[in-house]
Amino acid sequence: MSSTFTIAIDGPAGAGKGTLARRLADHYRLNLLDTGLTYRAVAHALLQVGLPLDNVSAAETAARQVDLARLDRAVLSAHAVGEAASKVAVFPTVRRILVEKQRDFAKAPPGAVLDGRDIGTVVCPDADIKLYVTASAEVRAKRRLAEIESIGGTADFAEILADIERRDERDMGRADSPLKPAADAHLLDTSEMAIEAAFLAAMAVIDDALAKRNKA
Ligand code: DC
Repeated sequence: MSSTFTIAIDGPAGAGKGTLARRLADHYRLNLLDTGLTYRAVAHALLQVGLPLDNVSAAETAARQVDLARLDRAVLSAHAVGEAASKVAVFPTVRRILVEKQRDFAKAPPGAVLDGRDIGTVVCPDADIKLYVTASAEVRAKRRLAEIESIGGTADFAEILADIERRDERDMGRADSPLKPAADAHLLDTSEMAIEAAFLAAMAVIDDALAKRNKA
């Protein structure tokens, strides 16, 4: 049996997987990687020098330069960077470079929680636990609006919803590694579930797997 423990969390933008991943990594004392930041870092590098997002060779170079230890969430969390990340994420060669780094990260003891779009299907198909966290587009849009308003901003609900639907379509519709639940993923629909309830549901699944593993 391997000495690492891997938890793969996938799902669409805004479903709450980032918060859940952080809570689980803290609780089980595992390393944590938000793989969306790696695609965001590539997009950000292109945006910074004004290169188009479909410049594949520049995106490959930027992907090779991504250093997982230096991903700056504050810079990369901008909404426009997320949208751009979804565009560079369609290129198979860019994905291959980033996936290799993500797999290396997962291999380091004691193991890791990785969240993204293709963790259970492509990056870590042998993960000990796979969770697919989702919520309706309307609920995700409402949450984003509340988040923006909580920091004093304003936004239009219909625009946010359209944005979310466009991003879903791109992430689920691309040819390489589209967003979809792995066949053996546990589904967590957070539409009517607070993050605490999602955390407890995930813990129940994980504790059960750990108990079986310790018995084996
Ligand atoms: O999770 P996020 O919003 O930070 O991700 C930004 C974009 O990066 C997302 O729209 C698609 C892409 N992505 C991906 O293709 N595969 C991943 N494992 C993570 C993110």
